[in-house]
Amino acid sequence: LPRVLSGIQPTAGSFHLGNYLGALRQWVALQETAEAFYCVVDLHAITMDWDPEELRRNTLTAAAQLLALGVDPERSTLFVQSHVPEHVRLSWVLECVARFGEASRMTQFKDKSQREGTAGSSVGLFTYPVLQAADILVYRADEVPVGEDQRQHLELTRDIATRFNGRFGDTFTLPAARIPEGAAKVLDLQAPEKKMSKSLPPAGCVFLLDDPKVTAKKIRSAVTDTGREVVADPVGKPGVTNLLTIHSALSGRSVPELEEHFAGRGYGDLKKELAEVVTDFLTPVRERTQELLDDRAELQRVLARGAERAREVAGRTVREVYDRVGFLPAA
Ligand code: TYM
Repeated sequence: LPRVLSGIQPTAGSFHLGNYLGALRQWVALQETAEAFYCVVDLHAITMDWDPEELRRNTLTAAAQLLALGVDPERSTLFVQSHVPEHVRLSWVLECVARFGEASRMTQFKDKSQREGTAGSSVGLFTYPVLQAADILVYRADEVPVGEDQRQHLELTRDIATRFNGRFGDTFTLPAARIPEGAAKVLDLQAPEKKMSKSLPPAGCVFLLDDPKVTAKKIRSAVTDTGREVVADPVGKPGVTNLLTIHSALSGRSVPELEEHFAGRGYGDLKKELAEVVTDFLTPVRERTQELLDDRAELQRVLARGAERAREVAGRTVREVYDRVGFLPAA
């Protein structure tokens, strides 16, 4: 079986529709055909300002949402990144293999360091993609299901792995990004030139745990384009195209089929129907997440089992890497 690894940050509140359609939907689907490792990346969550109590709560809520969306801990290994110290043990070695220049080219660092400036950003924000490379390489993953915005981090991961293998012998598998065909980049509902993101104002972002009334209102208030016809046109009609993409991803109907379905009807009809499609999907996810959060002890047990399984695999890689780079065995 091919091996798959992916991670998601435990963000405040809940995940959003971009996370689900770009990445998490693939996580769930891949469990059927791959040996999957999925982690909540709490170490990555402290690269920018954070609150300790909130982080703990967000980590549990993240795990509960993943289970509610269909990640099955019997079939895949679900764990919290900080529970598996091998990620950090490998990350240091990779930091010494990665080049300052290549890390400096990461556009996500450039974006995320804008607020505090480069000098005021944490060193961890800069080395963030190297820790991400360690997350992937420590499991020798073949594929990494992610949205479009992670493509550059995956290229860096491959470059680091190639350099390591060339210098120390074949150790790492070169992972491929697995980016979905539709919905690889879900756009903000209020600013459809930007990707949907928790860091933009909430009106444009559909959070999975929003109240259904709030979800419906956000969709009904989405920015649409000039003209009246419901047709996909990413350049001329980014807003309408985004709504069609979301509809298609959730309803399983192709975009041409939807264009046909909405022929002769206006944007209002599209929004009304989409609001239903989205809330019908999210309502059970929301309820299930709440149920899972009500039994915190069970949730912790699931995560502990996941971490134990992950450590077996990750431990083998780190032992091999530490030997290859010349560290003296402890015993
Ligand atoms: P994160 O937590 O920002 O996002 C999680 C996943 O959601 C995808 N995504 C989107 N997809 C489509 N449209 C959008 N608007 C949208 N917004 C987010 C992201 O591409 C991602 O797949 N660095 C990663 C976390 C990470 C990771 C890893 C991923 C850490 N280690 C190892 C893969 C493998 C991140 O910040 O994702």
